Amino acid sequence: MGIGIRYPDMACPAFATLPNGAQMPLLGYGTWQANFCVQAGAEELEAAVDAALRCGYRHIDTAAFYLNEPSIGKVIQEKWIDTGKVRREDLFLVTKLPPTRLRAPAVRPTLQRSLRDLRTDYVDLYLVHAPFGILERGDELLPVGEDGNVLLDMETDHVAVWKAMEEEVDAGRAKAIGISNFNQRQIQRILDNCRIRPANLQVELHVYLQQRPLVEFCQQNGITVTAYSPLGSPGSEKIYNSVGIEVTFPDLISNPVVKEIASALNKTTAQVLLRHIVQRGIAAIPKSTNERRIAQNIQVFDFELSAEDMVKLDALDRGDEGRLIDMKFVVGVENHPEYAW
Ligand code: A2P
Repeated sequence: MGIGIRYPDMACPAFATLPNGAQMPLLGYGTWQANFCVQAGAEELEAAVDAALRCGYRHIDTAAFYLNEPSIGKVIQEKWIDTGKVRREDLFLVTKLPPTRLRAPAVRPTLQRSLRDLRTDYVDLYLVHAPFGILERGDELLPVGEDGNVLLDMETDHVAVWKAMEEEVDAGRAKAIGISNFNQRQIQRILDNCRIRPANLQVELHVYLQQRPLVEFCQQNGITVTAYSPLGSPGSEKIYNSVGIEVTFPDLISNPVVKEIASALNKTTAQVLLRHIVQRGIAAIPKSTNERRIAQNIQVFDFELSAEDMVKLDALDRGDEGRLIDMKFVVGVENHPEYAW
């Protein structure tokens, strides 16, 4: 460990066990939006990743789509591995295959590029980022046609892509593979046609969208679940606004029920929202570029929510009405045959 500095060995003592036996820390550091839509520059993100590692996060979630893999790779390699503060095997790195590469032949080179950017030989988990494919045009994230709509790849074939994902496990470049933003029907189709079962589903999940049926389905099928936007993603409104869609997200952090529970426990509302998720055995990947909040968000293992508090929080579920991230900032995405909602 580091010289003269004490780093918490076990800031996140709780894990989900993947089918390959790997232990995924239940509290991870999310980086979506940290470097997208010019939310944070590379320097700010690098300082935040360094802070997250200092605070004890070992699970880091990124994606080729977030354009921040080089920053994350730089911090991990130069500030943590090269200095002996952490070993690669102590980290749990997750990245994702972007929609513009949702074709079987694109899987291998795309993962290889992510590995180069992350400066590692393997990822602990490689996810198919979304069920809909987008046509590739250079390095554009979301190529758009003259009508303003994204150029959809209507030929998306999940089973063919999954076979290529399995080959990445065989090659050792991905220790485990999974999916993100898939619905139950789409996951079932993979289960019916796979050699290696998905290890993880990453979906939007928070107190207003508790995803009860989907989580139950995953648990029955040995698929771990990771919650993105666990705090309700304040800030993602900007991404909608940037394409001219006016949305106002509800403020989960100031929900009175959550506030009352938090004040009785002497915790913050964010900690209660995160604890509600991890206490269900679901991983959560809150994002922050603020060191105080980064530190706060991982301190959710020194208290427990009572059965009564859990019932009160469970009752805040709005079902599908609670969904905030419907992906429609990808203009025209709902016309794709695999658009999930
Ligand atoms: P900031 O980076 O200034 O901390 P989610 O993970 O649900 O998408 O939410 C991320 C957003 O929530 C970011 O805008 C982040 O802002 C903010 N955030 C993260 N942690 C906390 C916290 N503990 N309390 C309040 N807001 C938070």
